[in-house]
Amino acid sequence: MEIVICRDAAEAGRLGAAAIVDLLQRKPDAVLGLATGSSPLAIYDELARRHEAGEVSFAHARGFTLDEYVGLPADHPETYHNVIRRDIVGRVDFAPDAVHGPDGLAADIPAFCRSYEEAIAAAGGVDLQILGIGTEGHIGFNEPGSSLASRTRIKTLTKQTRLDNARFFDGDINQVPTHCITQGLGTIMAARHVVLVASGAGKAEAVHHLAEGSVSAMWPGTILQHHPHVTVLLDEGAAGRLQLSDYYRETYAAKPAWQGL
Ligand code: F6R
Repeated sequence: MEIVICRDAAEAGRLGAAAIVDLLQRKPDAVLGLATGSSPLAIYDELARRHEAGEVSFAHARGFTLDEYVGLPADHPETYHNVIRRDIVGRVDFAPDAVHGPDGLAADIPAFCRSYEEAIAAAGGVDLQILGIGTEGHIGFNEPGSSLASRTRIKTLTKQTRLDNARFFDGDINQVPTHCITQGLGTIMAARHVVLVASGAGKAEAVHHLAEGSVSAMWPGTILQHHPHVTVLLDEGAAGRLQLSDYYRETYAAKPAWQGL
């Protein structure tokens, strides 16, 4: 796991976007795993800027989103289907229907979850998965206690996650759905490169566990310690509780440029 402590979230965004641009130059039809929420916004803003500047095209790329609320009407502005279109998909040149997400209104949720796993596999698997992390350590919506081998399925959101996300629902936790469909930890682990981004002191404890804690279902992101290629992009606040922060800074400062992320 490579830990990169950036000056601020904008620098983390530039690095994350650069990894995606490099990938699309090597492999124009790459499969991207897209997260929603605040954490990836700096990456998405930079990707939109670089697309506008003619530096990157998504015309042949494919995408799969991580998760979706269950039961929100299709025209609700906070469905992750609508959020991801606002934040990135509609700002670049993805082909129509190139980006898929869980169907939070599926009549048969287990059957839908199986078909989502099959669609990711049929696309050849995810080349680069963007992740955020919850204050209690979730990735996707794999809340504490999730099976470390889980696949796409329905989950109950914790009260903490619903409180954290109430900011998108007029500050009212009662408007935040109680259930979601999320890619599982096993699904996320199958991605070839994982880029996790976190900013602010509110994420510092989760980031400390992620990188330096014991692997445990209590801090689901810790499963990424078993992944061979994870890049963690942090600002100073999110890095605030890391025990080895000096070592991470020295390592990144001395990294040969040819290595990339
Ligand atoms: C979003 C997702 C979540 C968020 C996490 C952090 O698709 O899967 O794991 O990444 O809740 O959310 P933000 O970035 O809003 O702090």
